[in-house]
Amino acid sequence: MFYHIVTFGCQMNVCDSWWLERALKNRGFTPAAEEEADFFILNTCSVREKPEQKVYSLLGRLQEYTRERPHVFAAVGGCVAQQVGGEFLKRFPFVRLVFGTDGLVMAPDALHRLASNPGLKLSLLDFSEMYPEREQALPEHMPAQAFVNIMQGCDNFCAYCIVPYTRGRQKSRASGAILRECREMVEKGAREITLLGQNVNSYGRDKYGDGTDFAALLHMIAEIPGLRRLRFTTSHPKDIAPEVIRAFGELPALCPHLHLPVQSGSDRVLKAMGRKYDRDSYLRTVDSLRRACPDISLTTDIIVGFPGETGEDFLQTMDLVRRAGFESSFSFKYCDRPGVRACRMQPKVEEEVKSERLARLQMLQEKLSRQALKARVGGRATVLVESRNERPRTGEMQWRGRDGGNRVVNIPAESARDLTGKEVEVKITQAKKHSLIGEVLP
Ligand code: SAH
Ligand code: SF4
Ligand code: F3S
Repeated sequence: MFYHIVTFGCQMNVCDSWWLERALKNRGFTPAAEEEADFFILNTCSVREKPEQKVYSLLGRLQEYTRERPHVFAAVGGCVAQQVGGEFLKRFPFVRLVFGTDGLVMAPDALHRLASNPGLKLSLLDFSEMYPEREQALPEHMPAQAFVNIMQGCDNFCAYCIVPYTRGRQKSRASGAILRECREMVEKGAREITLLGQNVNSYGRDKYGDGTDFAALLHMIAEIPGLRRLRFTTSHPKDIAPEVIRAFGELPALCPHLHLPVQSGSDRVLKAMGRKYDRDSYLRTVDSLRRACPDISLTTDIIVGFPGETGEDFLQTMDLVRRAGFESSFSFKYCDRPGVRACRMQPKVEEEVKSERLARLQMLQEKLSRQALKARVGGRATVLVESRNERPRTGEMQWRGRDGGNRVVNIPAESARDLTGKEVEVKITQAKKHSLIGEVLP
């Protein structure tokens, strides 16, 4: 049987879909193009309005499509499914499975049952008591880059955020299970591992923790022979321990890049958001990181137009962005999410004001990003090559990879030698708007 999977949202969702594909392969299912699929899987995200709307528009389109093909069905999983639940089964008759973020582990067996029982519909929406350990489903040969979940859920309840409702309470995964998975991935060819969680800095600090904290976990994984690069995402600034900061200077495998979402540069707004740090302590963390690892590249997430944000608050954000010197950032206009505290906060910032602030912020970020990329020209970098693609306009082939700081580096493909999954030493020759160009050193 053939299926087609569509994934929205963060790296956790990408990682979940990857696992789901492996588990479906073990049950004899084959991925296919839309037109050939017997069933569709939508792995959904509800963090902002846009990704949620995309789910409904895709379901609307599939509704039309399945009219002519009544045997085709769909499964909706992930964060929107966790939130909307059984409504999907009622509203869209061709949807025969909904699974939540913990229910995912049972989705492969459920799909297997649905495939042979045309009348059946199933719903897997309960949160589980512990971290829902998954069946082992690694392929024989791993791609060079791998992702490993170290926890599920979040306990922070930032005023704007739906994640604690869609992913449930924080549940740390046992360190032994994490280490086993990382070792096996490296034995099978992985060279870079990214550890995933909504707030990895608080790993182990919940009732499921086994006494290993995040810094200790980093040390254990960084020692795996053959692992060249270790990354993690996402970090909450209030929870980053001095030992984790020091690890950037101590562990050669730990890449000099940290994504540390600041959300706002105004103390008043940070307080209303419930972030539990202020701009000074954030900037002190930045200083300590730069002392521990002078070459570290910092990236962030920012929300503009949080309820009550004034022009002065916004200027504080602009100022913090300059001071922290972020190499890049994801910035969003605040939007209400169902059930979160900020929905009830007033006054809401007008749409045009949000758009104008976002544009100003993004202009500043572009300038900082360009400066940071320019500063790399003439230097050397180690690039882990991810893929080969065509250069826009000229159509010449090039290799694409990332340096330790997570900057995209393109390398002209001069020889036929396949570099996918290889680490190459390059000299940076040029800086583009969002990427670098490098030449392989002999
Ligand atoms: N766990 C991560 C963030 C997950 S959500 C962390 O704590 O850093 C990813 C980003 O989406 C957030 O960092 C925030 O910038 C943005 N975001 C979350 N809720 C939002 C909302 N209601 N409106 C606009 N942006 C939002
Ligand atoms: Fe959302 Fe805050 Fe948890 Fe991040 S830390 S997932 S922003 S509640
Ligand atoms: Fe989206 Fe859920 Fe990730 S809401 S950002 S897919 S945790």
